[in-house]
Amino acid sequence: MSKATTDSPDRELSKVEVPTAGFRFSGVGGYLPKQVVTNDDLAKNMETSDQWIRERTGIFQRHVGETTTEMAVKAGRIALDRAGLEPGDIDQLLLATTTPEYIAPGSSPVVAHQLGLECGALDIQAVCSGWVYGLVAANGLLLQGMNRVMLIGSEMMDYITDYSQRDTGILFGNGAAAVIIERDLTGASQLLSFDLGSAGQHRSILYAEHGGVWQMEGKEVFRQAISVMQRSVRKALAQAGLGVEDIDLVIPHQANIRIVEAAWKRIGFSMDKTAMRLRETGNTSAASIPLVLDKALDEGRLHEGATVLFVGFGAGMTWGTVIVRWAGDPRTKASKPTQHPSGSNVRTENS
Ligand code: UT7
Repeated sequence: MSKATTDSPDRELSKVEVPTAGFRFSGVGGYLPKQVVTNDDLAKNMETSDQWIRERTGIFQRHVGETTTEMAVKAGRIALDRAGLEPGDIDQLLLATTTPEYIAPGSSPVVAHQLGLECGALDIQAVCSGWVYGLVAANGLLLQGMNRVMLIGSEMMDYITDYSQRDTGILFGNGAAAVIIERDLTGASQLLSFDLGSAGQHRSILYAEHGGVWQMEGKEVFRQAISVMQRSVRKALAQAGLGVEDIDLVIPHQANIRIVEAAWKRIGFSMDKTAMRLRETGNTSAASIPLVLDKALDEGRLHEGATVLFVGFGAGMTWGTVIVRWAGDPRTKASKPTQHPSGSNVRTENS
């Protein structure tokens, strides 16, 4: 295993103009299955303790049960309902998942069908970074003329986790969250910049074979995660022409609180401006960031004009950062549709 390459020097950091079609979250919905596994439950099957897991990871419990498709459909329905939209309003479904039910087909066509969507449906497999990759893909689809993209992260991590293994068994849990992203012709909300990356030479530090469970070199994942998050965040900030102080809320992938704290120490972010949900969910891979977004909205942490940074990393390795200027309230039903120049209906403001 190579240890060096993700630490290689940054490519040139420069401010680039990211074209935008407007990028508004018009519906957000999270779903966690009912069944909860606490740290004490895990301690019955392995040599560990609630105190060790809390102190070394920040995780108190995780949810298990249900399938990727079941959870994705439930989250998708909540997002549609909150946005006040019909299935026919969605032009594309993107499903970020590490755990589709089959090798083929992906889970997204089934999720689309159960949601009543008839649009294109695409699985994204970038493990824990998948939802962030999906944000960038959604922006591209809006630029190509689509009006609304539903982006779901959904994971049945219990399917590929051995809950008697001391390293991976303490970390992973199930969950799903859906967002609807739509054009914003007012320009108030935008995707300001992004950075995506991968380093396949690190595949062996975190992987699951067909029919197998997670295998992990925890310390190396920990080290690489801090390194790639730091570099990716710096690149995305530079591309947007922003400083650390300009970010109002950071929503990082939820893997281990110590990874976030160590990365933030180097970057300069404060935990006060960071939204977390790790203690309740554990690591839900592609669902983790939108599940935090859902909670941040519950807590009223996103205000009009806020600059929000999403950052993910995971097996592959893959990583990604997206910075968004936030506008509107995705929990309020969308306003009357107005006519888009292309002839299709687009909602431009919330009421
Ligand atoms: O999306 C990415 C997903 N993966 C990750 O983010 C994983 C990143 N890595 C980690 O989060 C951490 O490496 C772990 C939480 C997996 C492990 O924490 P650590 O601080 O790296 O522990 P360690 O492996 O260095 O072990 C320290 C001690 C050892 O005991 P001794 O040798 O010091 O006596 C281990 O035997 O802790 C012991 N230990 C445990 N004790 C209780 C290791 N795992 C456990 C456990 N419960 N589950």
